Amino acid sequence: MSETAQKLPVPGDVGKLYDRLTVSAMSDGTFNTNVHIGYWDTPDSTATIEEAMDRLTDVFIERLKVDENSHVLDLGCGVGGPGLRLVERTGARLTGISISQEQIKAANRLAAEAGASERAVFQHADAMKLDFPDDSFDAVMALESLCHMPDREQVLREVRRVLRPGGRLVLTDIFERFPRKEVRHEGIDKFCEGLMSTTADLEDYIPMLHRAGLRSLAVVDVTEETTLRLADEVAKLGAVEDRPVALDEGNFFDDGTFKPSDLEGVDDFGCLLVTAERPKTA
Ligand SMILES: C[S@@+](CC[C@H](N)C(=O)[O-])C[C@H]1O[C@@H](n2cnc3c(N)ncnc32)[C@H](O)[C@@H]1O
Repeated sequence: MSETAQKLPVPGDVGKLYDRLTVSAMSDGTFNTNVHIGYWDTPDSTATIEEAMDRLTDVFIERLKVDENSHVLDLGCGVGGPGLRLVERTGARLTGISISQEQIKAANRLAAEAGASERAVFQHADAMKLDFPDDSFDAVMALESLCHMPDREQVLREVRRVLRPGGRLVLTDIFERFPRKEVRHEGIDKFCEGLMSTTADLEDYIPMLHRAGLRSLAVVDVTEETTLRLADEVAKLGAVEDRPVALDEGNFFDDGTFKPSDLEGVDDFGCLLVTAERPKTA
């Protein structure tokens, strides 16, 4: 199934979805400052899901190559956990954007609690059309957010515009591992429909970066370190972590839910780690 053949997410609806997820996580005690999968460096890593979530942010930090003089854009910042960790670890300044108002409220509150409001600011915005001047950031990170955006190439063109020449982009994205099947696994359908996502076209990823004016530095399949391992870890925890992702409005799967265990054993559900840069010369 190509990206264009899939049902495209609508940013306003994605925002409402994350509003609902944020509010319900705050009320039922499952609120987490990271809204992403984990990264386990080796098959025998004993890291917990929490530790692996932070490790994924650290993998981004290693690749972004920023310091206290840098200004970083976090595109699809969630409730701010990864951005605040980057600020704490590197001293960089950070602007985070999310299409969810509730996430932005939570992120600015967390920044205040961490005494980081001067260096980390979160604002409601749509990544499809950024309201920042050209060349305004030294680096851009996008942890698991492009999958929710209706046109990846448009977002990458915006990233290229706001990045200074030589600035880096690091992102994770989801894709179907080859050979792509005629009929997609039901677990991937449930994920995409329930969480308003599309899977990227792996073969077109580097050409897409180039069309957007970005130089590809590395496009790495990190499925073994991320999505596959997460499904195993969730299975070990059983029902506690395998809560349905509560949805409404009847436009989702028949039972209205996606559960992490829907992806258990689905080795087609891949994760890409992408590093790119805006070339120094046009
Ligand atoms: C899976 S969460 C990841 C959050 C965060 N990066 C993290 O790792 O904790 C996806 C994020 O992408 C954001 N997002 C999705 N579509 C967006 C859009 N069009 N513009 C801005 N943010 C968007 C969501 O609001 C959410 O914050």
